Amino acid sequence: ASETQEHDVVVIGGGPGGYVAAIKAAQLGLKTACVEKRGALGGTCLNVGCIPSKSLLNNSHLYHQVLHDTKNRVGDVKLNLGQMMKAKDTSVGGLTKGIEFLFKKNGVDYVKGTGTLTGENEIKVNPIEGGEPQTLRAKNIIIATGSEATPFPGLTIDEQRVITSTGAIAMQEVPKKMVVIGGGIIGLEMGSVWSRLGSEVTVVEYLGAIGGPGMDADMAKLMQKTLQKQGIKFKLNTKVVSGDVQSNGVGVNIEAAKGGKEETLDADVVLVAIGRRPYTEGLGLENLGIETDERGRIVIDQEYRTKIPHIRAIGDVTFGAMLAHKAEEEGIAAVEYIKNGYGHVNYGAIPSVMYTHPEAAWVGQTEKEVKDSGKEYRVGTFPFSANSRAKTNLDSEGMVKFIADKETDRILGIHIVGPNAGEMIAEGVLAIEYGASSEDIGRTSHAHPTLSEAFKEAAMATYSKAIHA
Ligand code: FAD
Ligand code: NAI
Repeated sequence: ASETQEHDVVVIGGGPGGYVAAIKAAQLGLKTACVEKRGALGGTCLNVGCIPSKSLLNNSHLYHQVLHDTKNRVGDVKLNLGQMMKAKDTSVGGLTKGIEFLFKKNGVDYVKGTGTLTGENEIKVNPIEGGEPQTLRAKNIIIATGSEATPFPGLTIDEQRVITSTGAIAMQEVPKKMVVIGGGIIGLEMGSVWSRLGSEVTVVEYLGAIGGPGMDADMAKLMQKTLQKQGIKFKLNTKVVSGDVQSNGVGVNIEAAKGGKEETLDADVVLVAIGRRPYTEGLGLENLGIETDERGRIVIDQEYRTKIPHIRAIGDVTFGAMLAHKAEEEGIAAVEYIKNGYGHVNYGAIPSVMYTHPEAAWVGQTEKEVKDSGKEYRVGTFPFSANSRAKTNLDSEGMVKFIADKETDRILGIHIVGPNAGEMIAEGVLAIEYGASSEDIGRTSHAHPTLSEAFKEAAMATYSKAIHA
């Protein structure tokens, strides 16, 4: 090893969990390094996840909207896929450089290489450019190595014919037919992008509802109807049995989840989107006996400590929702534990957003979860078709749904399908964080004409009645 450097905190992984932890640690006066092997900061989220997918979702939506707006359209509309991909790359490039700048500004050492745990206070880093490994010594270590796509047994990923989300954000042409395995968030977001650009998309989902774990049943149904209208086909309660990859396409063999007659779907491209799994390859957990559970998640306690207390784990590599903002909150809390001995994340108030059109967003419990808990509750809903701004925008599909405790009126869950749901849910997250009642929201003035009035009126419908429905 070439040199040994001593740090208070070494973070392994420069994704939203890791880079935020590193910046926070440096801000709190701890000498900090962040090891990242990708060659760019920002992790899955910025390089191949949240950001590139949202760029394509936004631009494909604009294209699709103009293409179908035959009344106001001026001239022909043509897809320039190359330009769309370039716009995505420009956003990603700018944002990763931005994090490098923040590292410099806050004094975080950015170490480009693969980190392996070689001792309780020691990380060996193999530099990306090759050459001698470097050894870092650390009083505290934060593991934030993230996750990777779960492979589908029997279908080898080549990112050309059989792709993960990483291939789906980088296709050079629009496939004629696309089969998506898994009707969760990735399947629906990426399925939307390519369907809007002209692909015939069929989503095969094992369960009886789309949206993945956590989506309220009413919202999943509403979302499915809306996406079907946009042209996406769904095969629910259906499993993929096998795939037959040829040079000119893939035959995807499916049958009912319960078993039954086999059917073959032809596809130019198959997107595997059946979930993600923790990524710990090459990390050297075995060198220190750090435990993972049956799903590969690093086992931690409430203070993010592995069985070696000064080695912590946060984000996708451990328990909980695989979301960038959840990883960020944990990054900050883990560092606060190191510096101050306490930290906090309210796991009951982490929002989820699916960036289709309309968007779906939710926070707190689903109606089924509330029902199963045995609590008595009230539901209030309000449709965007009765909201003046949504109607003016000719974009009025969806609704807001509140679930509140019948006795105390405390909000237990908020579920939205509608335009800008992802921005609107922030008010719901704050409400839950502050322990608000539906009446607190219903009696709060919301600007007119805005989509957020639908939010207020759904709250009103929960404890009393909405005005416009
Ligand atoms: P990651 O972002 O995965 O970062 C881990 C980093 O660690 C990687 O860069 C990796 O190279 C590095 N690393 C791994 N091992 C080592 C090692 N040994 N040494 C050095 N470096 C190492 N979430 C949202 O909240 N909103 C979204 O809109 C959203 N969209 C998504 C879209 C897609 C297509 C995908 C795939 C994911 C999306 N996610 C979204 C999920 C989000 O990307 C993750 O939850 C988030 O990136 C997790 O952050 P993390 O820091 O835990 O891990
Ligand atoms: P997911 O867990 O959201 O959905 C996977 C879906 O695949 C589920 O509906 C599941 O029932 C289905 N499935 C599993 N095995 C199957 C099989 N063999 N055949 C058919 N269907 C099967 O996982 P997804 O969509 O891969 O995304 C991974 C994670 O990435 C998400 O959990 C989410 O946390 C994160 N993500 C978040 C986004 C956001 O916040 N907007 C966007 C994209 C990803």
